Amino acid sequence: MAMATSPHSLLLQNPNRNLLKNPTPKPFNAFPTRTNLNPTTTTSKRISITCATTTQIQDRPPSPAQSQDRVFNFAAGPAILPENVLRKAQSELYNWRGSGMSVMEMSHRGKEFLSIIQKAESDLRALLDIPPEYAVLFLQGGATTQFAAIPLNLCKPDDPVDYIVTGSWGDKAFKEAQKFSKPNVIWSGKSEKYTKIPAFESLEQNPDAKYLHICANETIHGVEFKTYPTPKNQTGLLIADMSSNFCSKPVDVSKFGLIYAGAQKNVGPSGVTIVIIKKDLIGNAQEITPVMLDYKIHAENNSLYNTPPCFGIYMCGLVFEDLLEQGGLEEVEKKNKKKAEILYNAIDESKGFYKSPVEKSVRSLMNVPFTLEKSELEAEFLKEAAKEKMVQLKGHRSVGGMRASIYNAMPLTGVEKLVAFMKDFQARHA
Ligand SMILES: Cc1ncc(COP(=O)(O)O)c(C=O)c1O
Repeated sequence: MAMATSPHSLLLQNPNRNLLKNPTPKPFNAFPTRTNLNPTTTTSKRISITCATTTQIQDRPPSPAQSQDRVFNFAAGPAILPENVLRKAQSELYNWRGSGMSVMEMSHRGKEFLSIIQKAESDLRALLDIPPEYAVLFLQGGATTQFAAIPLNLCKPDDPVDYIVTGSWGDKAFKEAQKFSKPNVIWSGKSEKYTKIPAFESLEQNPDAKYLHICANETIHGVEFKTYPTPKNQTGLLIADMSSNFCSKPVDVSKFGLIYAGAQKNVGPSGVTIVIIKKDLIGNAQEITPVMLDYKIHAENNSLYNTPPCFGIYMCGLVFEDLLEQGGLEEVEKKNKKKAEILYNAIDESKGFYKSPVEKSVRSLMNVPFTLEKSELEAEFLKEAAKEKMVQLKGHRSVGGMRASIYNAMPLTGVEKLVAFMKDFQARHA
């Protein structure tokens, strides 16, 4: 019987286990396989993935155990990681490159970990072509902590700042900024249920604002900036939360004063937050700024002021290496566009059975929310999808419906399987 394993149980399987006296415990079977389902309670047919796309884009060959052991995980984050990255981490878990230690056991000040964090930074710099006048910080506390750290570092308490709010995350960032600055929402998509991005010419920016803040991709609502507004404030600073589309496509970093992202969607496990900041913005934190939120402290100490999330940074480094091996972010973007195209096409061609609420021109390549015309079928859709090993498709509790997150690590075959399932489900339920 095929056993389902989580990424964590994969990591915990010691590749050298034959050398050990104690056998590795059986992996936790989190997902039922077809053999342990009662056939009388299921009406779904087996989905075979024969959909022909015209794409030239090829998935990398799956590793031998992929098809049996793994589900297609459409979670919004923590999210799917590349299979080969997990396997590499697994193979290095017990004894990292002959050091006799796991990365989890290393001193963050030792030469081994220094080589890991420096390589992670230089690979990220190569991927995003980050100019030398920008610092890269590996921090903790999630993107949520940055909602406070940004105004604390870049504003005085009475400084005005501009926020464009295109979804729940932008709204949260704005609300937190109220504690440390005087933010103003210059555009909100709330009345249209966060399905749009504004026309930039119509924005009334405050010339005295210290920065203009956007959320580049709203994970819950599935709206993504395809181009960026030009800040018309005194500093010319644009700041972006890129948590859910970080490293999914090339970005001109020089257009931004600061970019931040939680790692747990596209580049690693939760616990690492990446900040890319123009160096001349560092060093002006408000006096009340806690030491852990002060960019100067972290920049001066190369992200090693206190104990960093070492294993998470190591995992991010493996993902960066993998993205470079794939040919860099231009190649990654081509794959992401292809995956999104086949999924949105399936929605649009369903004659209303499935619907995407988001305006076409700003639909996210990463998070695809959709509703079912017959909302009473939602639970059945999720149940049948899970039986086919496609999980975490439930939309965020605040918007309902479905959401398929198709980050970098989601293979094309995963999206093709979902689309085949959606068509089959429609044929049986229309
Ligand atoms: C766009 C965006 N910003 C911020 C956050 C909050 O991130 P964290 O949970 O790492 O604080 C999320 C989390 O999903 C997100 O998607």
